[in-house]
Amino acid sequence: MPSFSACAAQPLPSAASRRSQIYKEMLQCRQLTLDLFEGIDHDTLTRQAHADFSPIGWHLGHIAYTESLWLLEHCAGQPCQFPQYRRLFAADGLPKAERVKLPSLEEIQAYLARIREAVFRYLEVAPLEQEERLWRFLLQHESQHAETIAIVLELLRIQDSSLFPFSSLPPPPSSFLSPPPSPLPDMVFIPAGDFTCGSASMDALDNERPAHVVYLDSYWIDRYPVTCGQYRLFMEAGGYQQACWWSAAGWEWLQSAQVSQPLYWKGDPEWDDHPVCGVSWYEADAYARFAGKRLPTELEWEKAARWHPEPTPAEPALREEVGSGSERCNHSHQIGQTTPVTHYPAGKSPAGCYDMLGNVWEWTSSWFAGYEGFEPYPYRGYSQVYFDHQHRVLRGGSWATRPWALRASFRNWYHPQVRQILAGFRCAAGDEGGAE
Ligand code: AVJ
Ligand code: FE
Repeated sequence: MPSFSACAAQPLPSAASRRSQIYKEMLQCRQLTLDLFEGIDHDTLTRQAHADFSPIGWHLGHIAYTESLWLLEHCAGQPCQFPQYRRLFAADGLPKAERVKLPSLEEIQAYLARIREAVFRYLEVAPLEQEERLWRFLLQHESQHAETIAIVLELLRIQDSSLFPFSSLPPPPSSFLSPPPSPLPDMVFIPAGDFTCGSASMDALDNERPAHVVYLDSYWIDRYPVTCGQYRLFMEAGGYQQACWWSAAGWEWLQSAQVSQPLYWKGDPEWDDHPVCGVSWYEADAYARFAGKRLPTELEWEKAARWHPEPTPAEPALREEVGSGSERCNHSHQIGQTTPVTHYPAGKSPAGCYDMLGNVWEWTSSWFAGYEGFEPYPYRGYSQVYFDHQHRVLRGGSWATRPWALRASFRNWYHPQVRQILAGFRCAAGDEGGAE
């Protein structure tokens, strides 16, 4: 993305400036996390909105637990300060349904503050030459759990509209372009050729490495994510009633799920130029077939998002915007909901695709797997245990994703039936790729 690439070649920062950069980013990231808990009562803190998701209070405690485990215990060699929280807040501790008996918000916040205090004391002496990657991993870890907190709040919102009346949100911003761009079913041609996939940057997670050159044949990809207006045509054409649009597994899923619209469907035509949000992979796949297209592979998605041969991480530029408005994409809860797909012309990819970052995650046809030469970091359970042919890759981030997880190479993954995440999709066409 041209406007993101200014930071491509800079001299290596000194140890001191790296230390203060990490300090600054950890404060930034934490403030955004704490903001999500403003005005949250104990019931909301501890409520399990869905069997697959822990209560938001659990995620908050788990953020502190993980920082303590890796930085204080593992790196600094300190004893665990809060052994009573180990079973409660470890990822492999209690089953999700048993994570509802939690300390008060004040106690969890005090836990975070105590761990942070020790972490910042350690940061002054930590050997960043060896540990910077881990510190950067933890920023992303907090960002990802904060997004899950945002998802759970959305679920609670749609389950009990009196809790967070939808009308309390700011009105959806209207499109910059008026009248709304038609034809929306616009596609971008990506010529055949090499591109660099993945990332070798300090921020890159294990599953983004190693960066490697990939050749792709030419293909077409949607300029915008599929909008609610477009998806409505599928619904009105009986898309949820006709097996012909669905994969066998998708149709089977639909019979048991018994749904007839996306989870976060608003219905009002006012939302027609917003991306569809809250669909399972099966629904995305069925729509694509209905439209005479297919889902892009994750590599096709990444090439269209990036295209430049050199890696161009977006996040340094986006980090500067935390706390202010963004001209490039809808991220970090700044708006708190989706935006029209034409809203961010300044964030277009070089190939001409809108909303590749932010707004909604986008399902791809790819199963989550390691790139050749994959090495687990910092533990096998972060990525590798999900290389099981049961998880589909999502790309691009949502309106709740923070800069630390917003880049063309970032890979997210979920089971194909999951619809609670803030996910939509765009379609592709052409011979290459296809669903695996
Ligand atoms: C990559 C978002 C699926 O939240 O389950 C957080 C990230 N891994 N803590 C998740 C993660 C460990 C993961 N996702
Ligand atoms: Fe975690």
